[in-house]
Amino acid sequence: MQMRTRVGIIGAGPAGLLLSLLLLREGIDSIVLEIRSREEIEATIRAGVLEQGTVDLLNEMGLGTRMQREGALHHGIELRFDGEGHRINFTELTNGRAIMLYPQHEVLKDLIDARLKQDGRILFNVEDVQVSNISTDQPRIHFLHEGEQVELRCDFIAGCDGFHGVSRAAIPTTEHHIFTRSYPFGWLGILMQAPPSSEELIYAYSERGFALVSTRSPELQRLYIQCDPQDDIANWSDEMILAELQVRLATRDNWQLHTGPITQKSILAMRSFVIEPMRHGRLFLAGDAAHIVPPTGAKGLNLAVADVRHLARALARFYTQQQSDLLEAYSTTCLRRVWRTEHFSWWMTSMLHRFPDDDAFQQRLQRSQLDYTVRSRAAAASLAENYVGLPLDW
Ligand code: APR
Ligand code: PHB
Repeated sequence: MQMRTRVGIIGAGPAGLLLSLLLLREGIDSIVLEIRSREEIEATIRAGVLEQGTVDLLNEMGLGTRMQREGALHHGIELRFDGEGHRINFTELTNGRAIMLYPQHEVLKDLIDARLKQDGRILFNVEDVQVSNISTDQPRIHFLHEGEQVELRCDFIAGCDGFHGVSRAAIPTTEHHIFTRSYPFGWLGILMQAPPSSEELIYAYSERGFALVSTRSPELQRLYIQCDPQDDIANWSDEMILAELQVRLATRDNWQLHTGPITQKSILAMRSFVIEPMRHGRLFLAGDAAHIVPPTGAKGLNLAVADVRHLARALARFYTQQQSDLLEAYSTTCLRRVWRTEHFSWWMTSMLHRFPDDDAFQQRLQRSQLDYTVRSRAAAASLAENYVGLPLDW
């Protein structure tokens, strides 16, 4: 079977779905192809922090109703070390900007709902996705859908299929550069049925390693501790996890973690990764397909959103004004923000984690960096500016 669309979008994550809605707003036809089921996508626990710019965009597109009702606006975070908490006041340091805690799978539910209401062009459960002819102006996507082999002819392909997708591999190795860092630690993440222990996120540095306190809802907490990335989650009993959280988060004034049943636990690896350029011929990569950041700066989803805003704008210019200048500039435009975010995420990660080979000198440097960040207005403002997100045209 043959199908045709202007923009073939591979992947129904935040990048692919938002791109399809941005294009629809410009009157540009697209089809989203996704290997997983709708149910699976809507149930996968991922990140939870939206930058101010992401929130503004969702609202402006009429996609923010549930987020406004169920999300929680946060005006700062706490950095905790040496048994003491220090607030970084985003609103004061960034001229009124803030972040929204609203889980990624809830964002995805809202995007899928909007897209299906408008024209229904998301194909879930597709198999064996491959791209061809990307160096020509008639690229194609081949896949199996409901047992039938389909060839989708497009003007452009957007590779929004995440880090493990197929798009990136279609770029010849002689045509790209890969930049990568792996970290000698991972995060053990849990969901715990208990009311929030803190009104804002707590990023804690301790002798025993990093810990993070976040929330998902008034009844559900999301917590993380730094761990060995090779460790097996089966080695961690609920009691061990709670004990570790309590030690790492302890304060001199006896702060208490609210505890309850742990309903989910898993270990995530951490890495930094960038491919340059983010485009080959008529294939444009966006989101995790093109770059990965460690989760310490809460940037993955927001970076994906910034990419597809640029891509939608470039495609709109191509179709309405027959100009390809923004498409030509796409990779360079995105990479400026990508590298700023890579640096911020690496910096937060380096400041807050214990490294297996760190010595006393290294630890003193980390303490000094933390101390400077909370005591200097300029340093705190730099963290705040990056955390709430730089402007789109950065
Ligand atoms: N064909 C079609 N779809 C695919 C394929 C494929 N070959 N491979 C992967 N996918 C789908 C995945 O199932 C997933 O739903 O592509 C989607 C990619 O979504 P994400 O991994 O969420 O990536 P992205 O949209 O770039 O979102 C940014 O940054 O920090 C993270 O958690 C954050 O997931 C978020 C991401
Ligand atoms: C989360 O709530 O899952 C979360 C919050 C902040 C981070 C990373 C993850 O830096």
